[in-house]
Amino acid sequence: MHNITLIKGDGIGPEISDAVLRIIKAAGVEINWDIQTAGADVIEQEGVPLPQRVLDSVKKNKVALKTPVTTPIGKGFRSVNVQLRKELDLYANLRPCYNLPNVKTRYEGVDVVVVRENTEDLYAGIERQVDEDTAESIKIITRAASERIAKFAFDYAVKNNRKLVTVVTKANICKLSDGLFLESARKVAENYDIPLKEILVDNCCMQLVQNPNQFDVLLLPNLYGDIVSDLCAGLIGGLGVAQGANIGKDYAVFEPVHGSAPDIAGQNKANPTAMLMSAIEMLNYIGEQEAGKRIKTALFKTLENNIKTADLGGNASCSDFADAIIKAL
Ligand code: NAI
Repeated sequence: MHNITLIKGDGIGPEISDAVLRIIKAAGVEINWDIQTAGADVIEQEGVPLPQRVLDSVKKNKVALKTPVTTPIGKGFRSVNVQLRKELDLYANLRPCYNLPNVKTRYEGVDVVVVRENTEDLYAGIERQVDEDTAESIKIITRAASERIAKFAFDYAVKNNRKLVTVVTKANICKLSDGLFLESARKVAENYDIPLKEILVDNCCMQLVQNPNQFDVLLLPNLYGDIVSDLCAGLIGGLGVAQGANIGKDYAVFEPVHGSAPDIAGQNKANPTAMLMSAIEMLNYIGEQEAGKRIKTALFKTLENNIKTADLGGNASCSDFADAIIKAL
């Protein structure tokens, strides 16, 4: 029996987590879920969107599966996601992107892994209104965090037999901050046999949409990592299939790349694949590789049978799709 925290947010979070929990249960993995709600809905009773009980639960269980949480845009409370990553020092955001069977995309054979620094950069949340017509945000890049994430990317590359790490910056403009990130990557690369390629983020975006297969592991600071992750999701069929994990020294939180999708929330339309694939990585992480493999095979079989949600051109609902996976298990 594993003890795992489920951080339940809003939007499509409840629908996709119900689907994923049913599938994991059907695969026979025994998990004692500690369900912790977070986000705007808990503010009324508890005063904050990320109560201490959520952090305590993850600290106790060490592992969490998380649904998206809405962050108000341009106003309101600070992102629960950013705060969680910071509080638990989940410094590495790992987002493998590869084609799935029978999911039509522009390119075949895409297999890119995005490694995004998760704790600093413009996400440090240091902003101020200088005067009525001027606002400023401070971009923090430190040598320690940059070397740590570069080491994570290279260690991941070694462990997963990857051949190239590409560091993505805008060091021609942000000479000091991105310059430090780049310099740290170069220094770390000296300890590995895997080559380090350097590219500017604007060119990287163009190259990714023209020829994604030239890339292998991408190493990025927080903001570029966020944006490029969605670009890579677009290469493999969209946000409905893009998985992710936030990994630190002591804790790991697995969550899809996508947000709370308010435009389709509560309609049983969301694709649970991204959340399911994040959960499969979580199962691998806790030593349940065999169950992870069986669920992945069942997911692939379901897609091959042309059972798909609307975002992939199908007409299965979120719960129908989960039922089909359970049947295929
Ligand atoms: P979003 O990822 O929620 O949605 C973008 C588009 O993708 C929408 O059209 C949505 O319907 C579609 N989509 C996303 N996930 C899908 C799924 N599983 N199945 C089918 N279609 C899916 O991005 P958006 O609209 O920019 O953000 C909405 C909210 O989510 C914001 O408050 C944002 O801050 C938050 N957010 C939270 C994240 C997290 O909790 N880790 C990550 C990204 C955004």
